[in-house]
Amino acid sequence: MEKTIDIDFKEIDAIINRYSGNPEALLMIMQDISDIYNYVPREVIPVLKERLGVKESLIYSVATFYKTISLEPRGRFIVNVCTGTACHVRGASRVMDALSEKLHVKEGETTDDLLFTLQAVRCVGCCASGPVVTVNQETYGGMDSSKAVKLIENYKELRNRVTAQ
Ligand code: FES
Repeated sequence: MEKTIDIDFKEIDAIINRYSGNPEALLMIMQDISDIYNYVPREVIPVLKERLGVKESLIYSVATFYKTISLEPRGRFIVNVCTGTACHVRGASRVMDALSEKLHVKEGETTDDLLFTLQAVRCVGCCASGPVVTVNQETYGGMDSSKAVKLIENYKELRNRVTAQ
């Protein structure tokens, strides 16, 4: 099933306008779009082509070259489970299994509602707090299976509250 998301095309226009439609700003524009959606939705590609006058192949090249930019759907919340040595010995794999079961996705996959992407990462630099999970820019230490599941439930609730406003 194709994963889709509601795109605010006015917001996309505003981003392009911020760079005066300058094709040389393609990378920055794609980065700004990624900052909102965590990826560059494919529906945006025709807009980039038209407004910036760039070729589709250039858009694909940027997405291929820069690791922070993806054209594949990714969740609003990127959930990273640290699987570095310190976190591993403290039970990171149990945390990963619990999250995988809770979200019904395997490592590296995105939920159908495009809310969560579950990933394994190497040491995130706070080994003393392991097992560590990060969600977007936030870091959570001392995780176990039930705390990690609760954390996800909190993000889901937060998202529901925001969309209900
Ligand atoms: S090993 Fe997980 S933070 Fe270092």
